[in-house]
Amino acid sequence: DIKILRTVAEVRQWRRDLLVKNESVGFVPTMGALHAGHLALVNHSKKENDHTIVSIFVNPAQFAPHEDLDQYPRTFDSDKAKLDELGGVSAIFLPTVKEMYPNGIKLDRSKQVGAFVEVQGLSHQLEGSVRPHFFRGVATVVTKLLNIVQPERLYLGQKDVQQTVVVRRMVTDLHIPTDVRVCPTVRESDGLAMSSRNAYLNEEQWERANILIQALKAGEEAYLAGARSQKDIVGAAVAVIGDLMLKSENGVTLEYMSLADPETLQEIDEIPEGGKAIMSGAVRIGNAAKGERVTRIIDNQFLPRD
Ligand code: PAJ
Repeated sequence: DIKILRTVAEVRQWRRDLLVKNESVGFVPTMGALHAGHLALVNHSKKENDHTIVSIFVNPAQFAPHEDLDQYPRTFDSDKAKLDELGGVSAIFLPTVKEMYPNGIKLDRSKQVGAFVEVQGLSHQLEGSVRPHFFRGVATVVTKLLNIVQPERLYLGQKDVQQTVVVRRMVTDLHIPTDVRVCPTVRESDGLAMSSRNAYLNEEQWERANILIQALKAGEEAYLAGARSQKDIVGAAVAVIGDLMLKSENGVTLEYMSLADPETLQEIDEIPEGGKAIMSGAVRIGNAAKGERVTRIIDNQFLPRD
């Protein structure tokens, strides 16, 4: 049976008992609304650890006041059923906001008081350029969670590539004794990267959302045909989206398309001989003028692949 742990004290007790028995712990932090991408992380953890713990916590600190904190799907019963069915999960950490932020947390950053974790130089670009508060919230909550769970290994998904870079760097710089593992992006049968936010898309928007993988594919094809410059690779990707964006009724907006160094996340002009780059993009799907909900979709691709 999966233990449901709701307090920091309960997790600490659970962890202490395993430490005494010298049993290892793998940790999968999530915001719930679990899908096959989350379950793949759990499966990786199960292979490498005696115990796997999944946290489900919609972290207010990584949402801006105008974002979807209130609407974010909260589906604990079906999440628990999915983990029961998968098997091999020892515990779920399901804290309240009060438990994680004992002194409270304000969404308005200018009103926040207390300790926060910032990873300089890696948090302002890409996702951070659209969501300036985001990585401070992620780094802070992941630090809290790692201090509570103290896992041997932490499992993150490649889908959120900047999050993996930020958390890896944080773990190294702050000497957090955890091994960071990154698992491949799990996709729907049509290629769309799985995301809890895909639930916001209607059927027609879902089809339009596939423009992002088509764009990344075009960028990769340019690379495979010999292109190495940002201009040519990103240009090929943006061209795919550009056609669709021209018609405003399509409700597709490109937020960014980037070719960056996989470690520094600095934009690169030219992929060096034998070098690697990460191509990543974000689009907004939904026509606000028509009263549609606008959903952000992100995805990325290594060049060369793997
Ligand atoms: P959430 O979006 O729930 O994602 C939890 C983990 O699942 C992250 O590591 C994410 O990269 C991974 N994941 C999501 N979709 C995936 C997919 N299609 N394939 C593979 N892995 C996927 O990311 C967060 O929550 C939060 O920021 C969190 C780290 C929990 C901090 O609050």
